[in-house]
Amino acid sequence: MHNILLLTSSPRGPASHSTKVARTLVDRLIAAHPGASVTHRDLDAEPLPHLDGLLLNALSAANRNGLSPQLLASALRADAAISQLFAADAIVIAAPMINFGLPTTLKAWFDHILRAGTTFRYTDAGPEGLVTGKKAYVVTATGGVYSDGPMLPLDFQAPYLMQLLNFIGVTDVTHVAVEGVAFGPDAAAKAVEAAVAQVQALPLAQTAAA
Ligand SMILES: Cc1cc2nc3c(=O)[nH]c(=O)nc-3n(C[C@H](O)[C@H](O)[C@H](O)COP(=O)(O)O)c2cc1C
Repeated sequence: MHNILLLTSSPRGPASHSTKVARTLVDRLIAAHPGASVTHRDLDAEPLPHLDGLLLNALSAANRNGLSPQLLASALRADAAISQLFAADAIVIAAPMINFGLPTTLKAWFDHILRAGTTFRYTDAGPEGLVTGKKAYVVTATGGVYSDGPMLPLDFQAPYLMQLLNFIGVTDVTHVAVEGVAFGPDAAAKAVEAAVAQVQALPLAQTAAA
């Protein structure tokens, strides 16, 4: 493994549990693969724009020669995000649950990198992901508990993240959940501790791309 892409997306700054656990995971990856480089994209500090008409027009342009400077800049920004993704051997995504789903900043990143013909393509057999050979780690942080119990059907975050990654061909995904942090400081501390323990126990040296 040479390149690690770390995506963080919490709007809670240094208080973020997902960022903390994801950073622990990255530290472990580096320890397992000395010399690996890390590209950290803080999607909250430097958000990508939403998929508005401007971006859609930029991304849909068959020929970029006639694009306005603004549209061209939008297209190039998306190209750069895709290049960053392809350059990564491992992708670590820290995702807080916001209103049962992804932070809009993380959704905007996916809106930039899902591109037909580049990161996936349509074939006679259905869609095919083109971002292959990567290992991904998803660290989610949630106020409630969604892995089991009555809230399970309301998790529109982790399954959606898995779907987005699988769709582009990233199928080797490990999920680490920090859950139940809304049940008080003790519960939050225990949830982080359990997630960190899970990270420390990951069999990194044994996975091919990890
Ligand atoms: C605006 C906002 C909306 C939230 N929505 C939910 C939610 O729908 N379900 C939930 O379980 N927790 C929700 N939470 C709690 C966060 O998921 C929790 O604080 C988590 O730790 C955030 O991740 P972070 O620590 O990485 O910032 C919400 C928090 C905020 C600030």
